[in-house]
Amino acid sequence: MNESYHVPVLLNEVLENLDIQPAGTYVDCTFGGGGHSRAILQRLNDHGRLIAFDQDEDARQNLPGDKRVLFVPNNFRYLQRFLRLNGIDKVDGILADLGVSSHQFDEAERGFSTRFDASLDMRMDQRQTKTAADILNDYSEQQLHKLFEQYGEVTNSKTLAKTIVEARRTTSITTIENLKNVLAPIVKGNPNKYFAQVFQALRIEVNDEMGALKEMLEQAPAVLNQGGRIAVITFHSIEDRIVKTFFKDNTFEAPDENPFATTERNRVLKPVNKKPIVATNEEIKRNSRSRSAKLRVAEKI
Ligand SMILES: C[S@@+](CC[C@H](N)C(=O)[O-])C[C@H]1O[C@@H](n2cnc3c(N)ncnc32)[C@H](O)[C@@H]1O
Repeated sequence: MNESYHVPVLLNEVLENLDIQPAGTYVDCTFGGGGHSRAILQRLNDHGRLIAFDQDEDARQNLPGDKRVLFVPNNFRYLQRFLRLNGIDKVDGILADLGVSSHQFDEAERGFSTRFDASLDMRMDQRQTKTAADILNDYSEQQLHKLFEQYGEVTNSKTLAKTIVEARRTTSITTIENLKNVLAPIVKGNPNKYFAQVFQALRIEVNDEMGALKEMLEQAPAVLNQGGRIAVITFHSIEDRIVKTFFKDNTFEAPDENPFATTERNRVLKPVNKKPIVATNEEIKRNSRSRSAKLRVAEKI
């Protein structure tokens, strides 16, 4: 594990709730610094396997050099496709620890952090073309408004969208400093918090984080063995709602569109815990990033 790359959150809680079988096959959808993966590997015997996804090439540097590990440098939204490509039909557990790693935040040129000046990039997968600058320069005022409202919970998201659209007629918004200067007159409350909300919204949109999460969840029941578990750690209320709803209803369709959505007849996953598991005070003291983490676990029926 590379602690300077990322400190894993809710580590023991994940291990306990995934109920690791020593000869099982597990998927870590978000390898990052490999903290969770290494702890899973310690519980596996020689027959166990770990398939580690990460769409950021940087994560590769943390691979442990263990023949039981297969690294998939791709988006976990293609979970089933890449498992099949590697001849894997079913797995015993899936973990997703969502969002960005500390490493991604700390690398100035990646453009994730409000602490530095760099181009407005924010792509986890650098093969992707769309960046945060593209969103700021191409999205309509209405799209920007919705995005900052929903993903950033920015209180003056309407004014924010209007300000960006007006500014981009005369100024280019391609760097973090450009964006901060444009927003300076409309910042509400603590500027650090305000910019963090704006950046969070852009990051979620650049990486289509909600879309990828939904697609992965929808494939999970098909790839899990009976009794296999899926554990998801979220850091945002919308993500948590998506996971909670899927674990409970096994669908994203509204109940009136799918009258059988919540019946036992077609239930394939059941939640293991009613309430999300959160970090202890002791973990929050050690790692402030764990403060907003919520772990939900479901089991394949
Ligand atoms: C919070 S970090 C995971 C940290 C890891 N659990 C550890 O212990 O070091 C999230 C990682 O998942 C990756 N990631 C996020 N969304 C992804 C997606 N849709 N597909 C593949 N990788 C993704 C990011 O690039 C990042 O490295």
